Amino acid sequence: MSKGYEFESETDTEVIPKLIKYLYDNRESDSMSFSTLVERVIQQLEGAFALVFKSLHFPGEAVVTRRGSPLLIGIRSQYKLSTEEIPIQYNGETINVQNKNYINRVDTSNALHSVSDRMAVEIYFASDASAIIEHTNKVIYLEDDDIAAVAEGKLSLHRMNRSAGEDPVRVIQTLQMELQQIMKGNFKAFMQKEIFEQPESIFNTMRGRICFDTSTVVLGGLKDHLKEIKRCRRLIIIGCGTSFHAGVATRQILEELTELPVMVELASDFLDRTTPVYRDDVCFFISQSGVTNTVGSSISRETDCGVHINAGPEIGVASTKAYTSQFVSLVMFGLMMSEDRLSLQKRRQEIIDGLRKLPEMIKEVLALDDQIKSIADELYQQRSLLVMGRGYNYATCLEGALKIKEITYMHSEGILAGELKHGPLALIDHHMPVIMVIMRDACYTKCHNALQQVTARQGRPIILCCKDDTESRNMAYKSIELPHTVDCLQGILCVIPMQLMSFHLAVLRGYDVDCPRNLAKSVTVE
Ligand code: F6R
Repeated sequence: MSKGYEFESETDTEVIPKLIKYLYDNRESDSMSFSTLVERVIQQLEGAFALVFKSLHFPGEAVVTRRGSPLLIGIRSQYKLSTEEIPIQYNGETINVQNKNYINRVDTSNALHSVSDRMAVEIYFASDASAIIEHTNKVIYLEDDDIAAVAEGKLSLHRMNRSAGEDPVRVIQTLQMELQQIMKGNFKAFMQKEIFEQPESIFNTMRGRICFDTSTVVLGGLKDHLKEIKRCRRLIIIGCGTSFHAGVATRQILEELTELPVMVELASDFLDRTTPVYRDDVCFFISQSGVTNTVGSSISRETDCGVHINAGPEIGVASTKAYTSQFVSLVMFGLMMSEDRLSLQKRRQEIIDGLRKLPEMIKEVLALDDQIKSIADELYQQRSLLVMGRGYNYATCLEGALKIKEITYMHSEGILAGELKHGPLALIDHHMPVIMVIMRDACYTKCHNALQQVTARQGRPIILCCKDDTESRNMAYKSIELPHTVDCLQGILCVIPMQLMSFHLAVLRGYDVDCPRNLAKSVTVE
């Protein structure tokens, strides 16, 4: 501002074009390249970013760079990538992409035949592979402070503050994602498709990891560290939004199976505090956004060890199948930790049986879609919707309320039924719709107490209950009856009606289900 620049927005990003204009106007020589200017800019930036620069001063050029936020380059060759026709081996090969060593001249000895072939290569920039998969499955993931430039159809890559001889080496990877995997098919929205994919996504999360014959669970990404992990004295699960809810949902069973104290932390709050973390603690960082839920993602490259949820790409901003797969992954972790505990074998067995039947049970829940839609028809003009439950289903309430608020823009709160009399009861009257989750588990009687409080104040409970639970059904304004599974997995079946409900409410209210206002799929800043 002291240099006379005026800012039109409150967005910090606006500083960047202003800064590069300033550097351009004050450049030492007319021959300074676009990528050098960009390098000068990012030397001064703090924080996370993924940027693409274009300028009228550099027609036909683009420069990209990242720090903290994801950015990848897609490469498409017009040639068929068969070894006979074009001898560039993209698949997994390490290619030395040096400054001024252009990608379409890499290996010129046995690659493209002449420089006039350079247009044979198309280059894409994206923050997520799903954006470019329809064009190419060959990608380079940029590292922090990489600067990639395209000029005259040629790609070059260098590092900020590089010194001579320090040339980046990046691998061109072949993505396994199929186009049809990320297409909507006959569904109205990706979110709806992803809700209906859950029988398969859950199955894929368990595939090759649970042996139902021997009741053993092996998580390949953890097994080499299992000895150390088993020696820990405390588990700390750290996540945001829906990922955090997956931690809340499984905390109780993890405490039971590991016999360890389990803390579940919101990542932002965890950072705000100076929580003591000891050398014999194990921290689980749970993340799920499109860019992270993949093999080769930043988080998987930076962690010591971990578990891929293998749920496939999730395009809808509101998370659905990633949640249920995170849930199952954490339960499998608990099962793996308790493999040699004699006293827990019976419990382990019932959970493993429950997991085996889960995909079929999810199909049964999905068959209730029409019924859920008709309840949504009655509710969609409401301003508020409370979701109440406790125990294993407290997380269902938090997650259900989050889904509702983020895509329907209705006010919604997940309430722990045990807290009812400590405040929320004041909200209840005959206008207030309340969804109550009442399952046949150790909290059943306590949930009925809460139900009585609600009906005594003329509340209109819509009850999620187990099939044949006439007692709950008789007290309900509406009921949704679900198949019954083992208590610690019931939350997976209960959250699906909430996902469907929020989807139908959002459609009825006329909103774009997949792209809720103000939200993004990958949140990369605090
Ligand atoms: C809610 C939702 C968000 C995400 C959260 C994930 O439907 O999608 O709450 O769950 O932003 O953050 P990461 O990717 O860090 O797990």
